[in-house]
Amino acid sequence: MRFIAAEGVILEDILDATYPIWSEGLTREAYGTWNAAQLKTAWGRNHLRRFALVDDRGRWVAAAKRYLWPMRLDGADGIMCGVGAVFTRPEERGRGYGRAIVDRLVEHARGEGATVAGLFSEIGEPYYERLGFTTVPLDEVDVEVQRKGGAPAMLVRSGDARDLPALAALHAVRAQGVRFALRRDTSLIDYGLSKKRLLAGLGRGAGPRAERQTEFFVAEEGASAVAYVILTVTAGGWTLEEAGDRDPSAARLGAILQVLLAREPSRPAPLIRTWWPPAMPVPPQVRLTNRIPARDIFMLRPIEDVRIPTRAEDVFYWRSDYF
Ligand SMILES: CC(C)(COP(=O)(O)OP(=O)(O)OC[C@H]1O[C@@H](n2cnc3c(N)ncnc32)[C@H](O)[C@@H]1OP(=O)(O)O)[C@@H](O)C(=O)NCCC(=O)NCCS
Repeated sequence: MRFIAAEGVILEDILDATYPIWSEGLTREAYGTWNAAQLKTAWGRNHLRRFALVDDRGRWVAAAKRYLWPMRLDGADGIMCGVGAVFTRPEERGRGYGRAIVDRLVEHARGEGATVAGLFSEIGEPYYERLGFTTVPLDEVDVEVQRKGGAPAMLVRSGDARDLPALAALHAVRAQGVRFALRRDTSLIDYGLSKKRLLAGLGRGAGPRAERQTEFFVAEEGASAVAYVILTVTAGGWTLEEAGDRDPSAARLGAILQVLLAREPSRPAPLIRTWWPPAMPVPPQVRLTNRIPARDIFMLRPIEDVRIPTRAEDVFYWRSDYF
């Protein structure tokens, strides 16, 4: 079996095969465009790649995406080999190719400095436990915002590219002291935002499953962002993808949410779901309810001699960085 970067005809064939599972409601053409566009972002170009296992006849049998996520684990900067979209051709299943492609990705990433591998399982825990992965708990909660009679007197504006360094700085402060967190620099945040905006734009008109909007708002002091939110808005409600506040009370983040809800004062508040990192302060205007383990199962496997975090409190991870 050869292990190759999937490109050209092989990549198109893999996209045909994986489209029914991972289309997110997009048309086949838009699904291809969404994948290609991610690779054209500054971060995607250097950190994201799709690989395949190819048999002696030159036919691919299994494929997966590989991300190199900058992270910090127990005070040491490193890289997490992110594994996504693991797929074996239906007629080739049960022959160990799924395991083989994950192992090859991990070995390859070891050579690029990865000390841990991570994934989000859509097929439960047992399959990946057998491949050496352990579940890392993440909390999923509803965000209930206390609504005022009108919007708080605070300027909230659309976020843009010039705000990203401030977002990165807010993250660095909040994630400090937690055992495991991504190191989210400007280009990584930009990648996450672009990926969501592309998905929303490419899904327009493709049907109800693909209807979504990305919203990015900041509160500023002087000229720089001191609090922000990034949301995905669908008919089913809002997903708070990530947020930040320079102030440890997080009161400005709470006020941003109040301002956004005050845009439609007569409508019932939407359901707001998020993964709220336990180290992130909860704004005084907000109550977190219906806490459950995240439905997307996050799992890690050591590559080098590292300890995998076992409690939600040990992890600072936003829904934004789901892959
Ligand atoms: C999951 C998948 C990649 C496994 O590929 P594979 O090449 O058959 O995997 P392997 O040969 O390494 O392992 C086969 C074993 O995994 C088990 N397995 C396969 N799919 C499973 C699932 N969804 N849940 C639990 N176990 C599963 C098989 O029962 C088999 O068990 P056995 O060894 O006791 O007979 C393949 O089924 C697939 O492409 N599924 C569709 C895409 C998908 O859902 N990917 C996972 C995204 S997180």
